Amino acid sequence: CRVRHYKFNVVLKNTTKLCSSKQIVTVNGKFPGPTIYVREDDTVLIKVVNHVQYNLSIHWHGIRQLRTGWADGPAYITQCPIPSGQSYLYNFTITGQRGTLFWHAHILWLRATVHGAVVILPKRGVPYPFPAPHKEVVVVLAEWWKSDTEAVINEALKSGLAPNVSDAHTINGHSGPISSCSSQGGFTLPVKSGNTYLLRIINAALNEELFFKIAGHKLTVVEVDATYVKPFKTDTILIAPGQTTNVLITADQTSGKYLVAASPFMDAPITVDNNTAMATLHYAGMLATTTTTLTAPPPQNATPVANNFLNSLRSINSNTYPARVPLTIDHNLFFTVGLGINPCPTCKAGNGSRAVASINNVTFVMPTTALLQAHYFNINGVFTTDFPANPPHVFNYTGSGPSNLQTTRGTKLYKLKYNDTVELVLQDTGILTAETHPIHLHGFNFFVVGRGIGNYDPKNDPKSFNLVDPVERNTVGVPSGGWTAIRFRADNPGVWFMHCHLEVHTTWGLKMAFLVENGKGPNQSIIPPPKDLPKC
Ligand code: C2O
Repeated sequence: CRVRHYKFNVVLKNTTKLCSSKQIVTVNGKFPGPTIYVREDDTVLIKVVNHVQYNLSIHWHGIRQLRTGWADGPAYITQCPIPSGQSYLYNFTITGQRGTLFWHAHILWLRATVHGAVVILPKRGVPYPFPAPHKEVVVVLAEWWKSDTEAVINEALKSGLAPNVSDAHTINGHSGPISSCSSQGGFTLPVKSGNTYLLRIINAALNEELFFKIAGHKLTVVEVDATYVKPFKTDTILIAPGQTTNVLITADQTSGKYLVAASPFMDAPITVDNNTAMATLHYAGMLATTTTTLTAPPPQNATPVANNFLNSLRSINSNTYPARVPLTIDHNLFFTVGLGINPCPTCKAGNGSRAVASINNVTFVMPTTALLQAHYFNINGVFTTDFPANPPHVFNYTGSGPSNLQTTRGTKLYKLKYNDTVELVLQDTGILTAETHPIHLHGFNFFVVGRGIGNYDPKNDPKSFNLVDPVERNTVGVPSGGWTAIRFRADNPGVWFMHCHLEVHTTWGLKMAFLVENGKGPNQSIIPPPKDLPKC
């Protein structure tokens, strides 16, 4: 193992897309930002220098950060943001992980343009558990707004209404050859007949779950969220913001161009689906006379396609890659996730009310001191540890909702002892919108042991849990009007954020954090903070 050094200069960059130009915040002037290449066991040192007017922080999404929460990145959770003109050295070691992850800004809506891939190769000499591809390609999916994204969310917060949806999706920065402003063309993936390719697909979009497919080619799924899965073939994958998926494709056609499509799933059911992003798979050696095969993306509400994909995901669970599912549980948690409405006398557009989001009816309030610092240095008054294990009142989550959708506000954490095991059932209240919530947990991977539509039944549903080879991930969709059950072991001391990875829902308060106490043994406590940790 070795030490890898990166320098991230956060700078403004004038960028033109969809026939309009704006200044965007970027890392090193790139959209998407630079890819970080590391190996399992490497130590990574990334110096982030903030040259823009915003405060910022960067999160290494999915990296476990064992005992190094100081490098995790969510602003006001594990660190105070890096002020304009200053820098911070993120210092962490990759332990027990290999695969595709990504990094992104973790403050305001800056991750719209501040994101990029993290590729963790296996240790030297360790092969993939699938045939080695001829080539690997990073595919970053994202969203593009013609207007400034900070203005989009600030306007929504003022009005109490939902923010404008994006103007386009992008594949490696391009919306594609068939947009009306196609002068820039789309992303092209050159292939050679007979070769296989590993696509490392990342959904870095702010608010959109996406289907991804390639005309005329099957996708063999081999990994999600940097954990290997039992390989399976599919036409279409579903990928939520915060998720990553590695697929193998074989260039088994002989000629031509094939369209690659990323199209939205469910998440804006009222909005017209007008923004499928397109890219092109291009067989080498074929000149102008090639044909393009069109692919019809799944319709926006193609729930069977989504379910079919999700139900196929299984851990490898072999001696080399065991699935260490916790079999005894210390904390049985039941969290409702969803949207609600609170009074807002100043919100004219929202008729005196505003959209809020909550977990167990608690709308999380961001502190002004980072929670990890408050915990480590015993600073009182920053948070409480009374996050409820269950919702305040039971109701029919998916039928007619409760008359009172109001939430309480607070910076509440749920406390765990080192090595405690947790089963967490996430129940969508499905009352205001038909959206899947991609819930992301920092600091851990978890096993997705069950999933269902309707109200979770604590008597019968656990009987069908998969405790043998459930998929292991860091971000999981809680289906609209349904539930997802996860299990994890709290073997990482620190303060760990959990939130919906649809940025609009996070902004509205669909977030909370776990506090994991230090263990008593060696290597079971938080390492001391670095000297350059930003101050609040
Ligand atoms: Cu990728 Cu807390 O986020």
